Amino acid sequence: MLSEEERQEIERELQHCDRKSAASVEALKIVQKHRGWVSDEGIRDVAEILGMTVDELDAVATFYNLIFRKPVGRHVILLCNTISCWVMGYEGILDHLSGLLGITWGETTADGMFTLLPVPCLGACDQAPAMMVDGELYGDLTPEGIDEILGRYRGEEGVWNVP
Ligand code: FES
Repeated sequence: MLSEEERQEIERELQHCDRKSAASVEALKIVQKHRGWVSDEGIRDVAEILGMTVDELDAVATFYNLIFRKPVGRHVILLCNTISCWVMGYEGILDHLSGLLGITWGETTADGMFTLLPVPCLGACDQAPAMMVDGELYGDLTPEGIDEILGRYRGEEGVWNVP
């Protein structure tokens, strides 16, 4: 069931829309902001408010790759795997991330700190290879740079989850 806060925020979004379904992405973002991801139950509850079917809203959620349909870690790493980043060696960055965190695409570290997901072009091709962590863009990635960037998110007490 949606919380009162979630419901009120969605109602506020609806005031700006001609059709309820036009608020679907924003409504899903609201639920994700509160819960970290959007469960089947969340889809059902939001669909009810928006007057959409569960399948219609699920299709929106699935299409929009910044809506997470499974639980994610505290920090979400979106690594671009599209053409410019591929040409500029994103695979080496993926290998480094995987080695450092002990995870690959779609997985979350055992300590729940990081989830690693592929993403299409982040619109930062001139800085390829690029990734986003919790909505913050990082470009011109190198293995050394990755260590420094993730260190900021891991915090002082962190221990790398290297197998
Ligand atoms: S292809 Fe990676 S940012 Fe555009």
